[in-house]
Amino acid sequence: MAQIVASNVQKVFKTADREVVALKDIDLEIARGEFVCLLGPSGCGKSTLLNAVAGFSLPTGGVITVDGKPVQGPGPDRGMVFQEYALFPWMTVAENIAFGLQVQKKQKAEIAATVSQLLEMLNLKDFRDRFPKDLSGGMRQRVAIARVLALDSPIMLMDEPFGALDALTRRNLQDELLRLWERLGKTILFVTHSIEESIYLADRIVVMTYRPGTIKRDQRVDIPRPRDPSGHAFNELKRELGRLVMEEQQRHADDEMKLAAVD
Ligand SMILES: Nc1ncnc2c1ncn2[C@@H]1O[C@H](COP(=O)(O)OP(=O)(O)OP(=O)(O)O)[C@@H](O)[C@H]1O
Ligand SMILES: [Mg+2]
Repeated sequence: MAQIVASNVQKVFKTADREVVALKDIDLEIARGEFVCLLGPSGCGKSTLLNAVAGFSLPTGGVITVDGKPVQGPGPDRGMVFQEYALFPWMTVAENIAFGLQVQKKQKAEIAATVSQLLEMLNLKDFRDRFPKDLSGGMRQRVAIARVLALDSPIMLMDEPFGALDALTRRNLQDELLRLWERLGKTILFVTHSIEESIYLADRIVVMTYRPGTIKRDQRVDIPRPRDPSGHAFNELKRELGRLVMEEQQRHADDEMKLAAVD
Protein backbone atom coordinates (compact mmCIF):
# COMPACT_ATOMS: atom_id res chain seq x y z
CA MET A 1 0.00 0.00 0.00
CA ALA A 2 1.23 3.49 -0.84
CA GLN A 3 2.44 5.64 2.04
CA ILE A 4 1.89 9.03 0.41
CA VAL A 5 -1.10 9.46 -1.88
CA ALA A 6 -2.03 12.65 -3.72
CA SER A 7 -5.48 12.45 -5.32
CA ASN A 8 -6.64 15.05 -7.79
CA VAL A 9 -4.60 17.75 -6.06
CA GLN A 10 -5.04 21.35 -7.16
CA LYS A 11 -3.37 24.50 -5.91
CA VAL A 12 -4.44 27.93 -7.09
CA PHE A 13 -2.67 31.06 -5.84
CA LYS A 14 -4.84 34.15 -6.04
CA THR A 15 -3.20 37.55 -6.08
CA ALA A 16 -4.87 40.94 -6.51
CA ASP A 17 -4.84 40.86 -10.30
CA ARG A 18 -4.50 37.22 -11.32
CA GLU A 19 -4.65 33.56 -10.52
CA VAL A 20 -1.79 31.12 -10.84
CA VAL A 21 -2.70 27.46 -11.18
CA ALA A 22 0.40 26.02 -9.54
CA LEU A 23 -0.86 22.40 -9.37
CA LYS A 24 -3.53 20.75 -11.45
CA ASP A 25 -4.91 17.20 -11.35
CA ILE A 26 -1.94 15.73 -9.50
CA ASP A 27 -2.33 12.01 -8.84
CA LEU A 28 0.69 10.43 -7.27
CA GLU A 29 1.40 7.41 -5.08
CA ILE A 30 4.64 6.87 -3.25
CA ALA A 31 5.43 3.59 -1.55
CA ARG A 32 7.09 3.26 1.84
CA GLY A 33 10.86 3.33 1.41
CA GLU A 34 10.73 4.70 -2.10
CA PHE A 35 13.07 7.48 -3.30
CA VAL A 36 11.14 9.78 -5.61
CA CYS A 37 12.41 12.93 -7.32
CA LEU A 38 10.19 15.78 -8.50
CA LEU A 39 11.89 17.24 -11.55
CA GLY A 40 11.07 20.29 -13.63
CA PRO A 41 12.08 23.83 -14.50
CA SER A 42 11.57 26.82 -12.24
CA GLY A 43 7.95 27.65 -11.54
CA CYS A 44 6.44 24.25 -12.36
CA GLY A 45 5.13 23.69 -8.83
CA LYS A 46 7.72 21.36 -7.31
CA SER A 47 7.96 23.27 -4.04
CA THR A 48 4.23 23.80 -4.00
CA LEU A 49 3.65 20.04 -4.15
CA LEU A 50 6.33 19.32 -1.55
CA ASN A 51 4.92 21.97 0.79
CA ALA A 52 1.47 20.46 0.37
CA VAL A 53 2.79 17.04 1.41
CA ALA A 54 4.62 18.70 4.31
CA GLY A 55 1.37 20.37 5.35
CA PHE A 56 2.90 23.87 5.23
CA SER A 57 0.51 25.06 2.54
CA LEU A 58 -2.53 22.92 1.86
CA PRO A 59 -3.98 22.24 -1.61
CA THR A 60 -7.02 24.21 -2.74
CA GLY A 61 -8.51 21.02 -4.16
CA GLY A 62 -8.11 17.27 -3.84
CA VAL A 63 -6.50 15.48 -0.94
CA ILE A 64 -3.11 14.22 0.19
CA THR A 65 -2.94 11.35 2.61
CA VAL A 66 0.02 9.94 4.54
CA ASP A 67 -0.49 6.43 5.89
CA GLY A 68 -4.16 6.82 5.06
CA LYS A 69 -4.65 10.03 7.06
CA PRO A 70 -5.39 13.33 5.28
CA VAL A 71 -2.61 15.90 5.66
CA GLN A 72 -3.95 18.89 7.56
CA GLY A 73 -0.69 20.45 8.69
CA PRO A 74 2.91 19.59 9.47
CA GLY A 75 3.52 16.47 11.54
CA PRO A 76 6.33 14.45 13.11
CA ASP A 77 5.99 11.79 10.42
CA ARG A 78 7.40 14.23 7.82
CA GLY A 79 10.75 16.02 8.12
CA MET A 80 11.80 18.79 5.73
CA VAL A 81 15.26 19.79 4.53
CA PHE A 82 15.41 23.11 2.67
CA GLN A 83 17.93 24.52 0.24
CA GLU A 84 18.94 27.33 2.54
CA TYR A 85 20.56 26.04 5.63
CA ALA A 86 17.76 26.36 8.12
CA LEU A 87 20.06 26.21 11.14
CA PHE A 88 20.03 28.39 14.22
CA PRO A 89 23.16 30.55 13.97
CA TRP A 90 23.44 30.98 17.72
CA MET A 91 23.55 27.24 18.39
CA THR A 92 26.47 24.86 17.88
CA VAL A 93 26.22 21.89 15.53
CA ALA A 94 25.35 19.56 18.42
CA GLU A 95 22.76 21.99 19.79
CA ASN A 96 21.16 22.38 16.38
CA ILE A 97 20.82 18.61 16.05
CA ALA A 98 19.45 18.31 19.58
CA PHE A 99 16.92 21.13 19.22
CA GLY A 100 13.95 19.15 17.90
CA LEU A 101 14.42 16.46 20.54
CA GLN A 102 14.44 19.08 23.28
CA VAL A 103 11.21 20.52 21.93
CA GLN A 104 9.80 17.00 22.14
CA LYS A 105 10.95 16.92 25.79
CA LYS A 106 13.03 13.79 25.33
CA GLN A 107 15.25 12.64 28.22
CA LYS A 108 18.71 14.25 28.38
CA ALA A 109 20.53 10.95 28.09
CA GLU A 110 18.48 9.91 25.09
CA ILE A 111 19.14 13.23 23.36
CA ALA A 112 22.87 12.94 24.00
CA ALA A 113 22.94 9.41 22.60
CA THR A 114 21.02 10.36 19.45
CA VAL A 115 23.19 13.42 18.84
CA SER A 116 26.42 11.40 19.17
CA GLN A 117 25.11 8.76 16.85
CA LEU A 118 24.17 11.33 14.20
CA LEU A 119 27.45 13.23 14.51
CA GLU A 120 29.15 9.90 13.83
CA MET A 121 26.82 8.91 11.01
CA LEU A 122 27.27 12.19 9.14
CA ASN A 123 31.00 12.60 9.82
CA LEU A 124 30.38 15.69 11.91
CA LYS A 125 32.16 14.59 15.09
CA ASP A 126 34.98 17.11 14.76
CA PHE A 127 32.49 19.92 14.26
CA ARG A 128 30.13 19.34 17.15
CA ASP A 129 31.01 22.58 18.97
CA ARG A 130 31.30 24.81 15.91
CA PHE A 131 28.74 27.38 14.91
CA PRO A 132 27.04 27.28 11.49
CA LYS A 133 28.90 30.38 10.26
CA ASP A 134 32.20 28.52 10.64
CA LEU A 135 31.11 25.61 8.44
CA SER A 136 31.24 25.09 4.67
CA GLY A 137 27.94 24.84 2.77
CA GLY A 138 28.29 21.07 2.52
CA MET A 139 28.88 20.72 6.25
CA ARG A 140 25.89 22.91 7.03
CA GLN A 141 23.70 20.73 4.86
CA ARG A 142 24.97 17.67 6.72
CA VAL A 143 23.85 19.32 9.95
CA ALA A 144 20.47 20.14 8.41
CA ILE A 145 20.06 16.49 7.43
CA ALA A 146 21.19 15.29 10.86
CA ARG A 147 18.66 17.61 12.46
CA VAL A 148 15.82 16.09 10.50
CA LEU A 149 17.10 12.54 11.07
CA ALA A 150 17.16 13.22 14.82
CA LEU A 151 13.37 13.36 14.79
CA ASP A 152 13.32 9.98 13.06
CA SER A 153 10.44 10.84 10.73
CA PRO A 154 9.75 7.98 8.35
CA ILE A 155 9.37 10.50 5.51
CA MET A 156 12.02 13.00 4.43
CA LEU A 157 10.99 15.89 2.20
CA MET A 158 13.89 17.68 0.55
CA ASP A 159 13.64 20.87 -1.50
CA GLU A 160 16.75 21.26 -3.67
CA PRO A 161 18.89 20.52 -0.62
CA PHE A 162 22.12 20.40 -2.62
CA GLY A 163 21.28 23.16 -5.09
CA ALA A 164 23.76 25.66 -3.68
CA LEU A 165 26.73 23.29 -3.41
CA ASP A 166 29.68 22.88 -5.75
CA ALA A 167 29.71 19.76 -7.93
CA LEU A 168 32.09 17.65 -5.84
CA THR A 169 30.46 18.42 -2.50
CA ARG A 170 27.12 17.76 -4.11
CA ARG A 171 28.13 14.30 -5.33
CA ASN A 172 29.54 13.57 -1.91
CA LEU A 173 26.30 14.43 -0.19
CA GLN A 174 24.25 12.55 -2.76
CA ASP A 175 26.27 9.42 -1.95
CA GLU A 176 25.86 10.09 1.74
CA LEU A 177 22.11 10.49 1.35
CA LEU A 178 21.82 7.22 -0.60
CA ARG A 179 23.78 5.45 2.11
CA LEU A 180 21.49 6.84 4.82
CA TRP A 181 18.40 6.02 2.80
CA GLU A 182 19.48 2.41 2.33
CA ARG A 183 20.44 2.09 5.97
CA LEU A 184 17.43 3.78 7.54
CA GLY A 185 14.68 2.79 5.11
CA LYS A 186 13.18 6.28 4.85
CA THR A 187 10.75 7.39 2.19
CA ILE A 188 12.29 10.35 0.37
CA LEU A 189 10.56 12.93 -1.79
CA PHE A 190 13.31 15.08 -3.28
CA VAL A 191 12.87 18.20 -5.41
CA THR A 192 15.50 19.08 -7.98
CA HIS A 193 15.83 20.77 -11.32
CA SER A 194 18.97 18.78 -12.09
CA ILE A 195 18.24 15.91 -14.46
CA GLU A 196 21.52 14.23 -13.60
CA GLU A 197 20.85 14.46 -9.88
CA SER A 198 17.43 12.90 -10.28
CA ILE A 199 18.79 9.96 -12.30
CA TYR A 200 21.66 9.48 -9.86
CA LEU A 201 19.34 9.29 -6.88
CA ALA A 202 15.80 8.23 -7.59
CA ASP A 203 13.79 5.04 -7.91
CA ARG A 204 11.25 7.15 -9.78
CA ILE A 205 11.37 10.56 -11.40
CA VAL A 206 8.20 12.59 -11.65
CA VAL A 207 8.61 15.22 -14.37
CA MET A 208 6.31 18.20 -14.01
CA THR A 209 4.92 20.62 -16.56
CA TYR A 210 5.16 24.38 -16.30
CA ARG A 211 1.89 26.21 -15.46
CA PRO A 212 -0.31 24.55 -14.74
CA GLY A 213 1.87 22.10 -12.83
CA THR A 214 0.81 18.63 -13.88
CA ILE A 215 2.63 15.31 -14.09
CA LYS A 216 4.18 14.98 -17.52
CA ARG A 217 6.01 11.69 -16.98
CA ASP A 218 6.34 9.23 -14.13
CA GLN A 219 9.60 7.48 -14.95
CA ARG A 220 10.97 4.44 -13.17
CA VAL A 221 14.79 4.28 -13.04
CA ASP A 222 16.00 0.70 -13.23
CA ILE A 223 19.73 1.38 -13.44
CA PRO A 224 21.51 -0.50 -10.61
CA ARG A 225 23.24 1.63 -7.92
CA PRO A 226 25.83 3.00 -7.62
CA ARG A 227 24.93 4.64 -10.91
CA ASP A 228 27.60 5.69 -13.34
CA PRO A 229 26.73 9.07 -14.87
CA SER A 230 28.93 8.24 -17.85
CA GLY A 231 27.16 4.93 -18.49
CA HIS A 232 24.99 4.24 -21.52
CA ALA A 233 21.64 3.72 -19.79
CA PHE A 234 22.24 6.82 -17.65
CA ASN A 235 22.85 8.97 -20.71
CA GLU A 236 19.94 7.54 -22.67
CA LEU A 237 17.62 8.51 -19.85
CA LYS A 238 19.32 11.87 -19.45
CA ARG A 239 18.66 12.66 -23.11
CA GLU A 240 15.03 11.59 -22.86
CA LEU A 241 14.32 13.54 -19.68
CA GLY A 242 16.30 16.48 -21.03
CA ARG A 243 13.90 16.66 -23.95
CA LEU A 244 10.88 16.65 -21.64
CA VAL A 245 12.29 19.28 -19.30
CA MET A 246 13.42 21.51 -22.17
CA GLU A 247 9.87 21.65 -23.53
CA GLU A 248 8.68 22.98 -20.20
CA GLN A 249 11.67 25.27 -19.83
CA GLN A 250 10.76 26.77 -23.19
CA ARG A 251 7.19 27.42 -22.04
CA HIS A 252 8.59 29.12 -18.97
CA ALA A 253 10.86 31.29 -21.13
CA ASP A 254 7.98 32.17 -23.50
CA ASP A 255 5.89 33.20 -20.51
CA GLU A 256 8.62 35.46 -19.21
CA MET A 257 8.98 37.09 -22.62
CA LYS A 258 5.24 37.73 -22.71
CA LEU A 259 5.33 39.31 -19.25
CA ALA A 260 8.31 41.45 -20.25
CA ALA A 261 6.40 42.62 -23.35
CA VAL A 262 3.50 43.80 -21.18
CA ASP A 263 5.80 45.92 -18.97
N1 LIG B 1 2.67 32.23 -2.37
C1 LIG B 1 2.49 32.34 -3.69
N2 LIG B 1 1.66 33.27 -4.23
C2 LIG B 1 1.48 33.36 -5.56
N3 LIG B 1 2.05 32.54 -6.46
C3 LIG B 1 2.87 31.59 -5.99
C4 LIG B 1 3.15 31.44 -4.59
N4 LIG B 1 4.00 30.41 -4.43
C5 LIG B 1 4.25 29.95 -5.67
N5 LIG B 1 3.59 30.63 -6.61
C6 LIG B 1 3.59 30.39 -8.05
O1 LIG B 1 3.27 29.03 -8.26
C7 LIG B 1 4.07 28.46 -9.28
C8 LIG B 1 4.85 27.28 -8.74
O2 LIG B 1 5.79 27.75 -7.81
P1 LIG B 1 6.84 26.78 -7.08
O3 LIG B 1 7.60 27.61 -6.13
O4 LIG B 1 6.13 25.60 -6.56
O5 LIG B 1 7.77 26.33 -8.29
P2 LIG B 1 9.10 25.45 -8.27
O6 LIG B 1 8.90 24.37 -9.26
O7 LIG B 1 9.43 25.07 -6.90
O8 LIG B 1 10.17 26.48 -8.84
P3 LIG B 1 11.72 26.70 -8.45
O9 LIG B 1 12.49 25.65 -9.20
O10 LIG B 1 12.02 28.07 -8.96
O11 LIG B 1 11.84 26.59 -6.97
C9 LIG B 1 4.98 29.57 -9.79
O12 LIG B 1 4.40 30.09 -10.95
C10 LIG B 1 4.97 30.58 -8.67
O13 LIG B 1 5.12 31.89 -9.18
MG1 LIG C 1 11.00 25.49 -5.60
